[in-house]
Amino acid sequence: MIDRETFLELMSGVCSPVTVVTAMTADGRPHGTTVSSFASLSLDPPLVSFALDRASRLLAHLQPGDRVGVNILGAHQQEMASTFARRRREPGLKFDGVTWTVRAGLPYLPESAGWTAGRVERHVDGGDHVLLVVHVEEGESTSTAPLIYARRVFGTHSLLAAAS
Ligand SMILES: Cc1cc2nc3c(=O)[nH]c(=O)nc-3n(C[C@H](O)[C@H](O)[C@H](O)COP(=O)(O)O)c2cc1C
Repeated sequence: MIDRETFLELMSGVCSPVTVVTAMTADGRPHGTTVSSFASLSLDPPLVSFALDRASRLLAHLQPGDRVGVNILGAHQQEMASTFARRRREPGLKFDGVTWTVRAGLPYLPESAGWTAGRVERHVDGGDHVLLVVHVEEGESTSTAPLIYARRVFGTHSLLAAAS
């Protein structure tokens, strides 16, 4: 069996996008969490997925049938990624000092490189995480350079130097 350290080191070398997944609580408060496990799952029907730690407080607001927003962060939003990764006793506090609006009824970070919203279709057991399958209803992309996480640091994507 692979040991924990080897597994962590292996996976830290896998580049991932950085998103802030959002939901509106039943009493109308915004909730957002930094999530790098966001991935494309299916084209027809349009599905995406991401995994949430079972301890994530956002999970309680993302049950099957609930609406969810995904802000795909740009290279200029590293601080935003850190802000939404902080554990706060009152999750709405993560939005203090952050520019945000409501889009399609969900918390939206307007400077993001991309946006998608949809409905949680199902939960899949993922060990200490839960994999959420989301049916995409709307999306918008920009040409903004993406924020990327690898080897425990933030970066962005760039072209390889042309082969000589
Ligand atoms: C770059 C980065 C990527 C992360 N990706 C995930 C993820 O995919 N799933 C997850 O559950 N937590 C992820 N986290 C950790 C959560 O953002 C963090 O535990 C957060 O405090 C959870 O907040 P919540 O309890 O309000 O949901 C990530 C953190 C960072 C810095």
